[in-house]
Amino acid sequence: MLINPKPVIVENSYIKDYEKLYKDSIENPEAFWENIAKELNWFKPWNKVLDWQYPYARWFVGGQTNIVYNALDRWLKTDVADKTALIWVSQDGTDKKYTYKQLNDEVSRFANGLKSLGVRKGDKVTIYLPRIPEQFIAMLGCLKIGAVHSVVYSGFSAAALKNRVEDAQAKVVVCSNSYPYGKKTVESFKNVEEALKDNKTVENVIVVKRLETTNIVFPATNFKFHWWHELVAKQDIICSTEIMEATDTAFILYTSGTTGTPKGIIHAHGGYQVGIYLTLKYVFDIRPDDIFWSTADAGWITGHSYILYSPLINGITTFVYEGTPDYPDIEIWWKLIEKYKVTKFYTAPTAIRALMKFGEEAVKKHDLSSLKLLGSVGEPINPEAWLWFYKNVGREQIPIMDTWWQTETGMFMITPVPSAGLKPGSAFKPFFGVETAIVDDKGNPVPVNTQGYLIIKKPWPAMFLDVYNNPARYKETYFEKIPNVYFAGDSAKIDEDGYYWITGRNDDVIKVSGHRLGSAELESAFVSNPKVAEAAVIGKPHEVKGESIKAFVILKVGVVPSDELKAELVQTVRKSIGPIATPDEIDFVDKLPKTRSGKIMRRVLKAKELGQPVGDVSTLED
Ligand code: WT7
Repeated sequence: MLINPKPVIVENSYIKDYEKLYKDSIENPEAFWENIAKELNWFKPWNKVLDWQYPYARWFVGGQTNIVYNALDRWLKTDVADKTALIWVSQDGTDKKYTYKQLNDEVSRFANGLKSLGVRKGDKVTIYLPRIPEQFIAMLGCLKIGAVHSVVYSGFSAAALKNRVEDAQAKVVVCSNSYPYGKKTVESFKNVEEALKDNKTVENVIVVKRLETTNIVFPATNFKFHWWHELVAKQDIICSTEIMEATDTAFILYTSGTTGTPKGIIHAHGGYQVGIYLTLKYVFDIRPDDIFWSTADAGWITGHSYILYSPLINGITTFVYEGTPDYPDIEIWWKLIEKYKVTKFYTAPTAIRALMKFGEEAVKKHDLSSLKLLGSVGEPINPEAWLWFYKNVGREQIPIMDTWWQTETGMFMITPVPSAGLKPGSAFKPFFGVETAIVDDKGNPVPVNTQGYLIIKKPWPAMFLDVYNNPARYKETYFEKIPNVYFAGDSAKIDEDGYYWITGRNDDVIKVSGHRLGSAELESAFVSNPKVAEAAVIGKPHEVKGESIKAFVILKVGVVPSDELKAELVQTVRKSIGPIATPDEIDFVDKLPKTRSGKIMRRVLKAKELGQPVGDVSTLED
């Protein structure tokens, strides 16, 4: 099935001829990106567009800039200064709006607050905040003074926060006392207290009072506590933006991989801003009056690139809703689109499938005519969900940008542009300046319509710099499986028209509701319970969540299996990672399939679970 965009969409869009521009862009990607970079502001121009010393790419070498300069400072002397930068709607329906000028004031105050605590260029700041304006102000405030933020999703547990704070060697943690989550109140500060027990690097903790009702007593410890509002009240609204090398680290973002601990993905100021700026502009056809709503959270890369930084670099309004898609009711998203006249709406397949279950009536009641484009990200979107979104939310008038990318890529990599003819379920083709391919395990291209490994052949500007403190893992995970190219960890195929169909991860990463979890990380959570001897975890297809977590657990000798024990293990995992990692099924078993060297063969478990052929088991021990 091919769905062609309406002529008005093609007419209005930046890209009218994808094929031609794509061809030009990859003939000389450096020239292509250099031209785009010139649209942004640099304190000093670069002397080299790309320095590619496999496996490290450094973009705009010699150039000096700061993401925050392009996101805020440069607008202040223009009309954009008085335009709304951020609309934030709280769970109870009240809103707060910040113009570019006001946001800049808040960011400067917070940045000065950080400085007053001794935070300097290169220092690490962990941000553990729910979806409130301070989350964004804190991020911008860090970058403004050249500090490096590490945002940790507020749904992560104390244990997960602890290892992220420790790995980053953070000097400051920014958090909230508590926050509303549907009908519940999350006592977030308790997690922070627990995570910081015995911590050696954190000197200051800044606490946002999100709920007046939860008062906390600052415990007496070896670090200092500050209320956010008290800290910023004393600060000036003038704060100069630090001049950064294009290749300096802007932030670290932890994400799950195939082995136990999460990886700190590092992104730079220079290339990253160029990549995210252009991708949003072309893919969502950004115009000055756009109100862009990405339903993600700044705890994930989508929130970094496309809730915060790129919308501001593009000078538009970004929209944020504090609550969940079903609170206070399942119409909330459509009500908000109608009320705030959202023009571009970017969400995840899992959310679409969840809302689909409630039927189309809830959507139909609302006037969604402000919408001009839709987007999807996080996991493959099944054609049924695509069509439902297209028919009911897009009223068959506006196309869906199914954007494939990763924490590591920083920006959209395989994605449609609005003028493209779309096939529901396909992410279209690579973005300009991006060269991708589907190959076999030797790196040779596979035939049309054959599944293989997705690779990226050349560096792109928003490419991550490294894995924090772990260059060996950087090389091994991404650059050694197939030499000379970036190994994405996804499988895909290309059809006869050159369209990409992403089929999912080919490593031990599980995508639960679009959230990335590692099998090994989950297994170590299970064995942290003293009753468990061994565990193996697989992802299973799930109607709404995309994938669900199934665990096979061997209990220690003498431990009696029971349903209560299953419930206990669910809690163990939630405590060690967070509610997003809640296992759906647990089977108690006596044995697990292993290789002779003792590695669990998850692929065998998965094949058996799904009733598929188990494939090559010659290395199986038993
Ligand atoms: C993994 C990266 C990129 C922002 C959110 C996720 C999967 C992402 C798509 C898509 C099929 C997708 C891939 C990828 N993925 N977008 N449009 N179609 N799969 O970032 O947590 O780093 O996860 O998400 O498997 O490798 P992330």
